[in-house]
Amino acid sequence: MSVLVRFGVSIDDDLLKRFDGYIKEKDYPTRSKAISDLISACLVEQDCIKGDEVAGTITLVYDHHRRELVNRLTDIQHDYHHIVLSSQHIHLDHHNCLEVIIAKGKSDEIEKLTQKLKATKGVKHSALTMAGTK
Ligand code: NI
Repeated sequence: MSVLVRFGVSIDDDLLKRFDGYIKEKDYPTRSKAISDLISACLVEQDCIKGDEVAGTITLVYDHHRRELVNRLTDIQHDYHHIVLSSQHIHLDHHNCLEVIIAKGKSDEIEKLTQKLKATKGVKHSALTMAGTK
């Protein structure tokens, strides 16, 4: 189990002022939380570069009226069944479906899966968020 560690940082005062502005804008309760998030994002990026295992959430919004599209998106997910953990389909409104796919595996494979899904005709919006598993 990890424990909280306190450490000192020396930083240029102008940079700190800008950082405090960022913290305020982003509604961080403390500098510690903001710094912790930045370090975490940096390490996830490093895990991705090294090809370590990460978790990914893929969000898609697509046209409900293209019937063949749902099958195509499902086929793609079946091709990646070894990394897809779950998917949830929500009928967003009369015209649009929202699907959230959760995957775990090597970042390049999750990115390939995302690319195939987003490149499918009828997909209006897509976003991938990666998270570290360490
Ligand atoms: Ni739907």
